[in-house]
Amino acid sequence: MDRTKLLELLNEDLQTEYQSIVQYIQHSATIKGPEYMSTAEELRAHLGQELEHALMLAEQVDFLEGTPTVEVPPISSVTDSRRALELDLELETRQLERYRERVEQTIEMGLPDVAEALRPLLQQTQDHVRDLQAALGL
Ligand SMILES: [Fe+2]
Ligand SMILES: [Fe+2]
Repeated sequence: MDRTKLLELLNEDLQTEYQSIVQYIQHSATIKGPEYMSTAEELRAHLGQELEHALMLAEQVDFLEGTPTVEVPPISSVTDSRRALELDLELETRQLERYRERVEQTIEMGLPDVAEALRPLLQQTQDHVRDLQAALGL
């Protein structure tokens, strides 16, 4: 993998974080039902971390001499509580897979500092997957 390809992938990662931010804003404001009493609070906690993830990715892109993207992917507007949480879980699961790959790739490329910067994203994304699985009773 070359630096250009890595930058492309990191910018795609950044887009998925923009998507998380938008989804969590909508979903934490609209989620309803006794089974989701504590869920809105959890989504707001996720939201704060997604902002940190986006910043971290943008900093790494800049450090590697790329330009952090400002493109937000198309996002469906979903206010059915269960469906919203399912979409959040799908996105977090996809991100977990992406960050696992990115940590491996950056180590292989001789960029252990970039891998270290990505490590909190990996751990926190796994936490988010587990929170959403629990909220959905999976
Ligand atoms: Fe994230
Ligand atoms: Fe997350």
